[in-house]
Amino acid sequence: MENRIFNFSAGPAVLPEPVLEEARNNLLSLGDTGIGILEHSHRGPAFRAILAQTEADCRELAGIPDNYRVLFLQGGASTQFFQTPMNFLTSQDTADFLVTGSWSKKAAKQAERYGGVHVACDSADRNYCYIPAEVEYSRSPKYVHYTSNNTIFGTQFSSPPASPAAAWLICDASSDIFSRPIDVTRHALIYAGAQKNLGPAGVTLVVIRDDLVKAGALDIPEMLQYRTHAENDSSYNTPPTFAIYVMGLVFQWLLREGGLEEIERRNRAKAEKLYAAIDESPVFRATADVTSRSLMNVTFVTGNAELDQKFVAFAEERGLSGLKGHRSVGGMRASIYNAFPEAGVDALIAAMRDFERTCE
Ligand SMILES: Cc1ncc(COP(=O)(O)O)c(C=O)c1O
Repeated sequence: MENRIFNFSAGPAVLPEPVLEEARNNLLSLGDTGIGILEHSHRGPAFRAILAQTEADCRELAGIPDNYRVLFLQGGASTQFFQTPMNFLTSQDTADFLVTGSWSKKAAKQAERYGGVHVACDSADRNYCYIPAEVEYSRSPKYVHYTSNNTIFGTQFSSPPASPAAAWLICDASSDIFSRPIDVTRHALIYAGAQKNLGPAGVTLVVIRDDLVKAGALDIPEMLQYRTHAENDSSYNTPPTFAIYVMGLVFQWLLREGGLEEIERRNRAKAEKLYAAIDESPVFRATADVTSRSLMNVTFVTGNAELDQKFVAFAEERGLSGLKGHRSVGGMRASIYNAFPEAGVDALIAAMRDFERTCE
């Protein structure tokens, strides 16, 4: 497709072209059903088959064991910020939060409505440019919540944090889900808004262990109980059918491309190349500490806000879109999720080199 440009947006973000083409081909008629994918009933056989296949592919891709449920919910990751404590936390309990950026801070704030919140670490002292090595847990937390990748600040956990054995580990994986193999069994619940690595906005993937489904509160609205969605195959109400369909196509694409090991290899290659170019540059520098650097969101600055702006405009003119950093970091952010092509990273590096020459 000749008119597509390189999209560095943090989300909604670039999707694999074969996925977009397949979705386009099924807009007017899903296969030979004569009804477009957007028009099929969520109770009809065509969509039921898509839902079942999407779940099966998700399980295969991530190695999700049978004692976990795969749910397709709505309300974004932001709904999970309150849905998790609403289900699991009472005024008698404490949940521990690893605060490594704005999203985990927001999640902790929502939990305060339902029970005790203990901040087990916080990297606000250096504007969240690192993942703290030291974590101090409370005496017996009900669960521990962390954000595996900090979309805004460009930092990422290299592996799930060590946490008290009795505490459930809950992960907001919105911006790095399925970018590398994931040990589901280390977690009690994993959630992710789809719009970065999994598909379009509108669906939230939740992987939840059976005992949590059972343990959730019963005195909250049914829509907010995980059991409701587990018992009704994510179809208690009308699910976001199109978003689920596209997510399913993304799972199939990932499986075809070689699964999570292969996608991690590619993500690592892309990110290492870009960080190396930034580290060598006389003009640009990365904002995250080396050991905490994200493979998904590469944040960098010139150190001069005006020059940053100039570079963003310079890059935009060359068909490199969405590089402006989040206002809380400034500078640039290159979001290079699974579907982002290596050629786009090469084009960004070439633009940086040309820009450097204009600064000489
Ligand atoms: C790590 C992380 N968590 C949560 C959110 C919020 O997601 P949503 O917009 O789906 O509510 C985002 C959005 O960018 C995010 O990056």
